[in-house]
Amino acid sequence: MAHRRVAVLISGRGSNLQALIDAALDPGYPAEIVNVISNEPAAAGLERARKAGLATEIVNHRNFADRAAFDAALDARLRAAGADLVCLAGFMRLLTPGFVAGWRDRMLNIHPSLLPAFPGLDTHARALAAGVRFAGCTVHFVRPTMDDGPIIAQAAVPVLPHDTADSLAARVLEAEHRLYPWALRLAATGRATVVGERVVVDGAKVAAGALINPPPD
Ligand code: GAR
Repeated sequence: MAHRRVAVLISGRGSNLQALIDAALDPGYPAEIVNVISNEPAAAGLERARKAGLATEIVNHRNFADRAAFDAALDARLRAAGADLVCLAGFMRLLTPGFVAGWRDRMLNIHPSLLPAFPGLDTHARALAAGVRFAGCTVHFVRPTMDDGPIIAQAAVPVLPHDTADSLAARVLEAEHRLYPWALRLAATGRATVVGERVVVDGAKVAAGALINPPPD
């Protein structure tokens, strides 16, 4: 199958973007990044994209009268780039329902929790406050509600006794960097499809073991 053309939307550091860039270096990877768009002119991720020789664009939300106008500009850039798929990678803007509908089942997001738990900001602090034994990350198809939509893949990460929000975030981030390229691979090859608002993964291996944390003595 030909490579799927992917646009990546960022707002900041871009470490997940970097994971996707690194994955796409493999000629056998089914997606190529055709454009990286940031709403923040100073996003560090833009430099990562430039270093990788990728096309970059800044669409600064502050220059638009409202969300609809901003989203229309984003949409125009994505269409101009010939994107088949869109990956939100630390893109911290709420998107309008009209924009989301235009990319239905073709736009992915990564969030650092086991959704539907802890959507939104301060995810790790809230997970610690709740005393959960596992944190993790989720890649899902985007729906209009923030951090909501059919789940493609998740990784579970144990919460350790002396974790702070920062130490937990760092552990989850490592998992994010493995999960996002895998989930994009599933979407790009057509193995992940939405059936009745759940994702069915074609030919998935079956992992039936429990991850228990704290581990039994
Ligand atoms: C990542 O942890 C990502 O999961 C999170 O922002 C961070 C971006 O880091 N996204 C969300 O919280 C979305 N609700 P990065 O710029 O280094 O990829």
